[in-house]
Amino acid sequence: MSNRKIGMWLYSNGGGDKIGKKIIKKLKDRNIDTLDNINLRKALAKNVNIIYDDIKLNKLDLFFSYNVGEQTQYQMYLYHALNRVIPMINSYDSFALTEDKFHTSFVLRNEGISTPDYKLCHRDDGHHLKKNIKKWDKMVYKPTDGWGGVGLTKIESEANLDMLLPFLNQMDLRYFYVEKFIKYDNTDYRVDIVDGKFVGCYGRKASSTDWRTNVTSGGSVFVREANDEIINIAIKACKACKACNVDIGGVDIIYDMEKEEYVVLEVNGIPAFATPEQEKLGLNFNNKKINLIVDLIDKRTKKK
Ligand SMILES: Nc1ncnc2c1ncn2[C@@H]1O[C@H](COP(=O)(O)OP(=O)(O)O)[C@@H](O)[C@H]1O
Ligand SMILES: [Mg+2]
Repeated sequence: MSNRKIGMWLYSNGGGDKIGKKIIKKLKDRNIDTLDNINLRKALAKNVNIIYDDIKLNKLDLFFSYNVGEQTQYQMYLYHALNRVIPMINSYDSFALTEDKFHTSFVLRNEGISTPDYKLCHRDDGHHLKKNIKKWDKMVYKPTDGWGGVGLTKIESEANLDMLLPFLNQMDLRYFYVEKFIKYDNTDYRVDIVDGKFVGCYGRKASSTDWRTNVTSGGSVFVREANDEIINIAIKACKACKACNVDIGGVDIIYDMEKEEYVVLEVNGIPAFATPEQEKLGLNFNNKKINLIVDLIDKRTKKK
């Protein structure tokens, strides 16, 4: 029987290159060959095939897409098309879900998972937001497709909102998405899940001058154990979408001090492995994560 063959596109910075090599080796041990560095940006579609460098991607047994860098419209368009004919991890649908904070919160809430209260309204209906600033006291404006805390704006008063709305109106947005500002201790839990199994957890703490925990916003990473409640929330969050189960997810969770419960902020579809510096700090889940991903690829490519 010939080897199974998969395509892979994995980020190479922050230790990603070494992780990629380990995955390829472990897959090889299971008779799975990996074509590495398949960037859909350089692929094209021609009749029955999506071609990259003479490789027919639609003939592969699976495609593993794991690049944190921003994906262009073109890459996502081919991602979507390719996933209509071969399995992908993550699936295009779950990738698209995790890329969108409103869709994620909506799905989570429908499965009974706590998130910050939110509202989405048409750009011409900004007056709806007035009610919320009164009710919530403080709120957060969030771009639904952002990352790294970029573009999040804390709105602290009605006057604040009145000042912000004209700017938002100029930005050619289709809608506004706001969340209640959660009173929390400026730390979070990032919980990694692969195939419904707990991989690892770490914490992040906002800097003294910011309310966001993201490293790109000045936050710092620290070793943090998750309890069973947190782990179960994260597993549930990745399973919440019945139609598009999230195979690999990094769930951002904070503790709401008013409601006295954990709330899910978002599910990240391409949660980074621990960097070499973070590994030195004690974040030691990389090998477990690699093994679970290899198991998953093996399972999904088993010939019937
Ligand atoms: N509703 C909220 N209330 C209080 N803090 C929030 C809220 N939403 C986000 N944050 C803070 O902002 C950070 C970034 O938000 P998140 O939704 O995870 O988006 P991103 O994709 O930018 O990481 C969080 O880690 C948290 O520190
Ligand atoms: Mg986040």
